[in-house]
Amino acid sequence: MAKNRDSWASRLGVILAVAGSAVGLGNFLRFPVQAVQNGGGAFMIPYFISLLLLGIPLMWVEWTLGRYGGGFGHGTAPGIFHSIWRKNRFIKYFGVIGIFGPLAIFVYYTYIESWTLGFGVLGLLGKMKTAALHKDTMQAFLSNYQTNLWPSYLFFLLTFFANMYVIFHGVSKGIERFSRWAMPTLLIMALVLMIRVLTLGAPYPEHSDWNVLNGLGYLWNPDFSALLDPKVWLAAAGQIFFTLSVGIGVILTYASYLKKTHDVVLSGLTSVSTNEFIEVVIAGSIVIPAAFAFLGPMEIEGVAKSGAFNLGFVTMPMILNRFPWPQFFTGLWFLLLFLAGVTSSVSLVQPAIAFLEDEFNISRRKAVMIFAVVSFILTQPVVFWFSKGIVDEMDFWAGTVALVVFALIEVILFTWVFGMDNAWEEIHQGADLMVPRIYKFIMKYITPTLLLVILVSWLVQSKDIIFMTKVPPENRPFVLGTRLALLGSLLFLAILVNIAWRRREALAKAERSKEEEIDEK
Ligand code: PFF
Repeated sequence: MAKNRDSWASRLGVILAVAGSAVGLGNFLRFPVQAVQNGGGAFMIPYFISLLLLGIPLMWVEWTLGRYGGGFGHGTAPGIFHSIWRKNRFIKYFGVIGIFGPLAIFVYYTYIESWTLGFGVLGLLGKMKTAALHKDTMQAFLSNYQTNLWPSYLFFLLTFFANMYVIFHGVSKGIERFSRWAMPTLLIMALVLMIRVLTLGAPYPEHSDWNVLNGLGYLWNPDFSALLDPKVWLAAAGQIFFTLSVGIGVILTYASYLKKTHDVVLSGLTSVSTNEFIEVVIAGSIVIPAAFAFLGPMEIEGVAKSGAFNLGFVTMPMILNRFPWPQFFTGLWFLLLFLAGVTSSVSLVQPAIAFLEDEFNISRRKAVMIFAVVSFILTQPVVFWFSKGIVDEMDFWAGTVALVVFALIEVILFTWVFGMDNAWEEIHQGADLMVPRIYKFIMKYITPTLLLVILVSWLVQSKDIIFMTKVPPENRPFVLGTRLALLGSLLFLAILVNIAWRRREALAKAERSKEEEIDEK
């Protein structure tokens, strides 16, 4: 067990780091696309309900479980789950998802993140000015970027090493320090863009109703008719998980570096609120109103449905190109995404590092080296075969299914196995705020039930994905290969857990016999 675990240097630092994990590409790119694909105003009611019944309770569960496990020297789910349910020999294997999920998300997230750096630099240099004049040329610019290695591979390498650089410096000197300047900086960048968009008015005099105000109305006028559509609910819940980084083990690891007396109630809530403010208020006032004003109500939906990245990487450059100072604003948009991306991707690395440090006593430097080599190799298929459906496959299993499964295990362990009364007491250790009592009921009954319902309906609705019916035949080997690789990684991590526990038991035994020897003497 690692004796000298790192710890957060300040309370603000840990809040910014968790908020940094939460605020990412999900806020600025995924949220607008999900909202538009699910009918704008129709999306927001399930979204807020999911926030209250799933997101916030899970955030508290993860902060508390993480702090609890950290007290036993464990920063990842296998050890944390084992600390909660010592009698169960298998529970630690369920914790493997909490290392596997972040690693798998990291592998594709970082690649998309590297596009934002590439587009930011190319935008600042004015390289996409002509392409951004038309949709077709901008679309071609994006696919050229994705298919040609130059310059995209260079930006990928830079992004990858930027992540490793931060992690290499550790929790307080790396992640915390970085979040302390990255978060305020990205907030300012986002505010500048928001103000610019909100003062756009109606760009086309002949379409006076295509204006920013109606764009905001598109998101904010509630539409109750869609509430009966389970698809909208699933999408909203999925967005809440993804945007808050909950249900995957990342917050567990971050919280394991807290001291026992550190408040989790207010800190957890503050990080959620920061994320939500940046997602719905700021990000919600950038892409959707801008796209609405320039494309109108009909086309915006078509664009969102035509591809997950089209609003961010095709439409936004076209819109920003029409602003005064187009290079500046295009650069600002993509570099904002890049900063937001890095604060999230480093959080995806930390569980694997913590696992090696805590369970194998490997030094941080060595752990980062091992991670860098392994994840670099795993990223290559994503970079080289991006168009073969690999990312969709990984996002489904690691970025969607694994999240719900893991969240369900966590919440059941915490409220049923650890027990709701213990859980309540543990949450309130050192707390600066009381959680409303209704959450005792919500956490124990509502959150797990909803998670179960979501999981089952998701799997039922995803028959096409599971059986690959819509995958073009030429892509099937790639998709199948990805699936096998994911399964292989899960298995490999489970074996590592097994080895770590055997070693621990052997060590404990050796120590005991040593003590007995001393006693005999
Ligand atoms: N929350 C991040 C975003 O919104 O982009 C993505 C993410 C980071 C998801 C870390 C999951 C995670 F563990």
